[in-house]
Amino acid sequence: MRTLILFATDEGQTEKIARRISERLAAQGIASDRHNIAVGPNRPIALDAYDAVIVGSPIHYSHYDVRLAEYLKQFRDILHEMPSAFFSVSLGILSNDESEQDEIRKITEAYLHETDWNPLLTTHFAGALTYSKYNWLKRKLVQLVVKKGGGPTDTRFDYEFTNWKQVDLFVEQFVEFIQRCKQPDDEYAQRTLYSKPTRRYSVANLRAKAEESA
Ligand SMILES: Cc1cc2nc3c(=O)[nH]c(=O)nc-3n(C[C@H](O)[C@H](O)[C@H](O)COP(=O)(O)O)c2cc1C
Repeated sequence: MRTLILFATDEGQTEKIARRISERLAAQGIASDRHNIAVGPNRPIALDAYDAVIVGSPIHYSHYDVRLAEYLKQFRDILHEMPSAFFSVSLGILSNDESEQDEIRKITEAYLHETDWNPLLTTHFAGALTYSKYNWLKRKLVQLVVKKGGGPTDTRFDYEFTNWKQVDLFVEQFVEFIQRCKQPDDEYAQRTLYSKPTRRYSVANLRAKAEESA
């Protein structure tokens, strides 16, 4: 069983979360590869070689990563079959102002709609304020926005808001989903080149069970 963790990152927090997810998967005996979409954007990723996929993107200027969206659209068919999850990284999700949280959820809905992707799990993690990594203009801009929201404005420091327990819980939940997607051994052994589904782990199982119990 091998999982792909595909992510985008500008300042590194999403990559840090992806690393934690890998570690937690490994602790449960699940191997994973991490792939930063910015590293060789034209390098093909053999999604078919994986049993499950987790995609993570930060929000910048109210948008998720467009390169990831292109990838998701390209592999829509296979994504519909395999267990998949999406994690969002933002600061808006931390806001006490409910309308800001709603805004993040709307951005997420629109992104999933645009990519026509229906992950088994979608979750929101708070990111980080890494003033040390911003250029002068970005630092001033972010500081202004953060000030409005009552966040930390001392640019001599970086601030991490990610709740690592929440990340660990997300991995636990996803592993549970993956296990439920496993094809029964006899069915999988009897598959032929033309029989469907041929994947070792397929959401078809979960859908069928949901329909049965409906
Ligand atoms: C220039 C800039 C724009 C941002 N825009 C948003 C935004 O529109 N909404 C939001 O919730 N967070 C926003 N953030 C916060 C980022 O989502 C947060 O810093 C996240 O941890 C970045 O992830 P990364 O380090 O993987 O790039 C912005 C951050 C920066 C630096």
